[in-house]
Amino acid sequence: MTADLFEGIADEGPSREVIAEGAVLLRGFARPFEQQLVTVLRDITAQAPFRRMITPGGHQMSVAMTSCGNCGWVTDRAGYRYDATDPQSGKPWPAMPQWLRQFATEAAEEVGFPGFLPDACLINRYEVGSRMSLHQDKDERDLGAPIVSVSLGLTAIFLFGGMKRSDTPRRFRLLHGDVVVWGGPVRLAYHGIAPLADGEHPLLGRQRINLTFRKAR
Ligand code: SIN
Ligand code: FE2
Repeated sequence: MTADLFEGIADEGPSREVIAEGAVLLRGFARPFEQQLVTVLRDITAQAPFRRMITPGGHQMSVAMTSCGNCGWVTDRAGYRYDATDPQSGKPWPAMPQWLRQFATEAAEEVGFPGFLPDACLINRYEVGSRMSLHQDKDERDLGAPIVSVSLGLTAIFLFGGMKRSDTPRRFRLLHGDVVVWGGPVRLAYHGIAPLADGEHPLLGRQRINLTFRKAR
C-alpha cells in the first residue's frame, strides 16, 4: 500500500530535492532527452575524445574529460584554465548544440536562475572506482551564473559541502537523468564525487557520464 502510494507520487514526473539554499536536485529532469544526449556525446567524443589530464601537482585524474562549447576546461602542469582550443587536437572544441544549451537554460530557470547562457560544457567520464575529490568550481569568470550538472549512467554519490573544504559534506545519490543546479549563495560550495561503485547501466554500461554547463567567460 505504502509502496503504491510512493509509486503514484513518482509517476507525477520529476521531483525536486533542495540540497541547500541555491542548490536543487531535479530528479529525472534529463530523462526525456537521454537518447539525444547519448547521440550528442558520441558526436563530441568522436571529435574530442575523453582523456585523463594531469593536475598542476602532477597527478593523473581518475576521471577522463572532454568539453564542448566556446571553451573547454583543461589542466596540465601549467595549471587549470578554460581554453578555446582542445590542446590534444589544436582545434576548437566541438560546438555546443543549441538544444543542449537551451536544456541547460531551462534547468537553471526551473531552480530560479533565469537567463543562464552557458558557453562551456565539461564532460566527465567515471569508470568504476573513479572519483572527484572535494573542490570548488572557481575557474569561471562569471560566478554570478549557476552550474548545471547532468548525470547519466551508473549512480554516483554526490558530496555537497560548505564554503570551507573542512565542512562535512552531505551525500546525495545521483541517478541516470538527474540534474543538479547550484548557484547564488552556494556557487562556491565544495563538492565532489565518491569512488564510483560497480554496476551495469542499460544505456551506458559500466560508467557514469556527467555534463556540467558553465558560464566560463
Ligand atoms: C564536477 O564537480 O565538476 C563534476 C561533478 C559530477 O561529476 O557530478
Ligand atoms: Fe565541480
